[in-house]
Amino acid sequence: MKPATYLLAGILALCSPLCTWTAANSDYREVRGSELGNVTNFSTFLLDRSSGMLYMGARDAIVAVDTANLSKFDQIVWDVPDEKKKACVAKGKTEADCNNYIRLLEFLGDGRIYACGTYAFDPQCAFVNISPFSLEEYEDGSVKMETGKGKCPFEPSQHYTAVMAGGILYTAATSNFLGTLFDISRAMGIEQERIRTERSINWLSDPEFVGSAFIEQDEKNNPEGEDDKIYFFFTEVAKEYDLYTKVKVPRVARVCKSDIGGMKTLQRRWTTFLKAQLVCEDRASGQRFNILTDIFTKQHQPGDPSSTFFYGIFTSQWETDEMSAVCVYSLEDITKVMDGPFKELKKSCENWMNPEPVPTPRPGQCLNAALKAEGFESSLKLPDKVLTFMRDHPLMENSVVSSPLLIRTGITYTKLAVTLTTVSKGNNKQSATVLHLGTDHGELHRVAIVGQNATLLQELTRFPASEPVNNILLYKGGVLVGSPHSLVQLPADGCSPYSTCEVCERARVLGCVWRQKEKVCDLAVTEPGEGVQPEAPVNQCGSRDDHCSPATVELHVVENLRVMLPCVQVSPRPCHWLHLPHRHTRRHHTDLEVHVTPKSLGTYKCLCEEGGREHPPCLRAAYHLTLEKPSTGSSAAVVGSRNYMVWYVVSFFLGAALALGVIRCVARQRRMKRGGGGHPLSASEKSRDLFPSSDTPQSPSSGSLFSEALPFAEKRNGTLNGHGGHIARQNCTHIYANSSGLKLQESSINLAEELDGLERMRLKGEEAGLGEGLGDMGGLEEDLAKMAVLRGAPLAKCEESSI
Ligand SMILES: *[C@@H]1O[C@H](CO)[C@@H](O)[C@H](O)[C@H]1NC(C)=O
Ligand SMILES: *[C@@H]1O[C@H](CO)[C@@H](O)[C@H](O)[C@H]1NC(C)=O
Ligand SMILES: *[C@@H]1O[C@H](CO)[C@@H](O)[C@H](O)[C@H]1NC(C)=O
Ligand SMILES: *[C@@H]1O[C@H](CO)[C@@H](O)[C@H](O)[C@H]1NC(C)=O
Repeated sequence: MKPATYLLAGILALCSPLCTWTAANSDYREVRGSELGNVTNFSTFLLDRSSGMLYMGARDAIVAVDTANLSKFDQIVWDVPDEKKKACVAKGKTEADCNNYIRLLEFLGDGRIYACGTYAFDPQCAFVNISPFSLEEYEDGSVKMETGKGKCPFEPSQHYTAVMAGGILYTAATSNFLGTLFDISRAMGIEQERIRTERSINWLSDPEFVGSAFIEQDEKNNPEGEDDKIYFFFTEVAKEYDLYTKVKVPRVARVCKSDIGGMKTLQRRWTTFLKAQLVCEDRASGQRFNILTDIFTKQHQPGDPSSTFFYGIFTSQWETDEMSAVCVYSLEDITKVMDGPFKELKKSCENWMNPEPVPTPRPGQCLNAALKAEGFESSLKLPDKVLTFMRDHPLMENSVVSSPLLIRTGITYTKLAVTLTTVSKGNNKQSATVLHLGTDHGELHRVAIVGQNATLLQELTRFPASEPVNNILLYKGGVLVGSPHSLVQLPADGCSPYSTCEVCERARVLGCVWRQKEKVCDLAVTEPGEGVQPEAPVNQCGSRDDHCSPATVELHVVENLRVMLPCVQVSPRPCHWLHLPHRHTRRHHTDLEVHVTPKSLGTYKCLCEEGGREHPPCLRAAYHLTLEKPSTGSSAAVVGSRNYMVWYVVSFFLGAALALGVIRCVARQRRMKRGGGGHPLSASEKSRDLFPSSDTPQSPSSGSLFSEALPFAEKRNGTLNGHGGHIARQNCTHIYANSSGLKLQESSINLAEELDGLERMRLKGEEAGLGEGLGDMGGLEEDLAKMAVLRGAPLAKCEESSI
């Protein structure tokens, strides 16, 4: 061979790993805090959309990362002096909490960033020069700081929100060390204009602040001279219901940008603070989600502020299971409620019958051109009558109502972002919404909403299960997802995020098709004769089950077992179960718990109304329960229980004998020590104490169910493979007496969780390029062997479920 050939081969050999590396990494990148100068506890994100620099607030540090190359970073250290830390610890706080957690970063618009940190429970704000990246200092080299009270929380994990409006910071945060005072305030600008909320429970009652938005009027289209507004979203304790339990309510509040407070009444307080209740309720089931946990603001028509929508993640105070729902509210609906009647909070008989008349100009209204023409140029000019009414009526009578786009059980969403796309179906153009949802277990889920239909596209595990997603930012067709210890960058737009055949198949609702030859997910070309048409649309991925016609799962069970049959709901519409009528089932949301008796054997089908009532329901899951054949399973079970009885009897005597032995020994020693003066412990008394320890029945598990359950089981809670996933949260082990009076251990495995897990595993498999992922169960079984429930580990606490 010629040297040139060697050279060529060498170059190719060098290049190919390099090329595949860049290809594989062009759409997915990750950095951990340890690679960014050993920084931890990332909280707030601030993105400079023109330069692509991402600023992250962390513990004792601010990090700047180039989103074009995550390995390029810069860092500022801003920590707390040792004396101050000691003083903080002396006040009863933990050493870890007595650091400076940077919670607020906002551009000042003059080449500087305003940064606030908890600074050992004494919040401080500082100025960061962007170039060179550094903290502004006095001549003596000390950091230029000002108080951060009311801007940044005292406690590192406390909720707060802040928004920049026209170069002025508006915040909602606690303003004392104890965390008992809450203010929504204008936190910058002229001293006289730094106004805040009245400290009255009618205004704010134990709020947990969630988000805020600055909605600027369209400059070119504002004939009425309407004022710009700032919206705050939070959950607070309802004061309008006279109930014994503390009922939480999600709220939206609004203040006007030109508000500078009243002259006498409401001096240095908002004169425009109005709030309304948000309702996120599934009317079909009556489920109400009353705790708001995140909000995302989206203009449906970019550039048109009146097309603003707010997407919220909700959970429920009343549900015992983890649940999350997503509801969306339009700015228009919020405005309508704010323009509507006021709620009467002082419920005396008098004003119950005759509500106080609303004075003019309307309390809480932003000043517009018409009001200014009437002589109300500023809020200082407003009459006392208007201001006292405003002070006593901050809450609106009507609520802003929405029904969930999505409801999920067993999952806690922490953050969301929303992208919009247009799907063309023939000549019709339809808009589709993609929700990018972060979970408390380091996962990113994507859900497509087209019309009334919600489709779960993808569930990606991106961080260890101990790291909740705490930031999601959309930028340049990608998404930046943050946890307290890492940052990842993924594609978000178009079809490229759905990089395997099965996921692409699900993304068909977004107009994506899988091109088998190139192995890419691409936008379908709808014009005939142009481009590539989708090849063999169904089953091309080799997946066995089609949507709405899943294969029936055969389950071999033994009597008296409780089996949880999962039904994964992908749309907010209701699901129902079809089975022979008997009284041995119990619904857990969409899942069904079956107590196995001869009468409860047979077929179970879960049907969901995905396309509305006018469409036939979609079969989401089907199971067939049969008794384990006597020759193998149930005889084994009987043998098992007999063995168990023998073991029980033997262990009783062994335990008792051992106990007696120990007690004798102890008693003798004591007698010897005390010179024989003490009373020996009563053997019977002590053996009662010792008895339970030899009586924790760890009987062999009902093997047949477990062997069936194996393929479904995967991870939930607790890590299996170091990178996320978790073991069934309800690893319930029920112990109760059966008819024969013998103690028998029974287990109910929540297959829902585990099927769900299967889904995750499959997704993960696909991600890792394992193709179908389902075929290879070897490694999984090994992992399962480690699962607590299969080892018969300590009895888990479990929900009440009596028969
Ligand atoms: C990172 O920080 C930890 C604790 O703060 C420390 O133990 C470790 O040595 C640091 N590692 C590097 C590379 O600086
Ligand atoms: C990213 O930045 C690092 C550090 O500056 C540099 O070594 C690397 O070559 C850059 N990578 C790319 C793809 O530009
Ligand atoms: C900071 O990170 C550590 C380590 O993961 C964690 O234990 C701690 O709770 C975090 N603190 C805050 C305030 O988030
Ligand atoms: C919703 O789904 C149903 C069936 O699953 C389908 O018939 C209907 O066309 C879908 N609606 C939209 C708006 O995509």
